[in-house]
Amino acid sequence: MKYIIDTDPGIDDAIAIMLGVKNNLDVIGFTLVSGNIPVVKSEKNLKIIQDFLETNIKMYNGSVENLCNHQTAEFAHGIDGLGYAVFPDNNKRKFEKLSAEDFIISSSKKYQDNLTIICLGPLTNLANAIKKDKTLYKRIKHVLIMGASYNPTNIEKYIEFNVNVDPEAAELVFNTPFEDIKVVTHEIGITSFIEREYMDNLRNSEHLVSRFIGEMAQKYMEFSYEKYGVLGLTAPDPTAIASIINQNVIKFEPCQIKLVKNKDNKNECHVDLTSNSNIKISTNFDLELFRKIFKNTFN
Ligand code: BDR
Ligand code: CA
Repeated sequence: MKYIIDTDPGIDDAIAIMLGVKNNLDVIGFTLVSGNIPVVKSEKNLKIIQDFLETNIKMYNGSVENLCNHQTAEFAHGIDGLGYAVFPDNNKRKFEKLSAEDFIISSSKKYQDNLTIICLGPLTNLANAIKKDKTLYKRIKHVLIMGASYNPTNIEKYIEFNVNVDPEAAELVFNTPFEDIKVVTHEIGITSFIEREYMDNLRNSEHLVSRFIGEMAQKYMEFSYEKYGVLGLTAPDPTAIASIINQNVIKFEPCQIKLVKNKDNKNECHVDLTSNSNIKISTNFDLELFRKIFKNTFN
């Protein structure tokens, strides 16, 4: 299977990309979307990530605008998006001329069933590709999304960043009949965490990539603690990637997802489990298995 990773790096995006590449996912391209930080800033981050990985995977720029909201999350990811890990721009690395949406469309023609689109940020790029090519869904069968929320008991947690930043795009993607859409929710992303001590120790690892991850993680751990009281690295995007590396990490069940605006104009995800649907949402996950995959990769 070939993969396109659509991303807004972002600390947990960066770690997710590294987890995927180190576990030999056949990534044919990265497409950038505005989310955690604007696209213009995250270009630099993607180059830094590839410098550390020593890869030359092609990079494509998405639209600088989301379809609707323009919200970013520097409070969680730092001003530059990679926490306190600050590096110069590697100007030798260049982005391709093709846009993110055109790369998604052309890859769908080339690889058809053998292509999965992994979306780790707002769904703007995939939505733009759907708008441009009305038959896209017939060729791309598999879409994996980190986004949305499924927690019937706590109204606050109905709001999830990636969906809330571009609800118009999310709605279009959820209403497009791709054969298989898997959604890894916010709840899984925050209950799935790597212990603080382990992350701190990574800063002294003999492996450069692990040291980089340990450094970046410091900022996201501050956010994880302040927002969720978690002593460690909450890992929404890495958990989504882990669900591909090992299918036992997450259990998915068929559902319908509806977006509803609340009184503060934020976008709630209302999820109903059903017996049959092309959309499947994460309802359970294996924390120990996720940690094992993570720790086997970064030590
Ligand atoms: C999502 O929002 C972003 O901050 C993370 O990168 C992740 O994709 C979690 O809701
Ligand atoms: Ca992300």
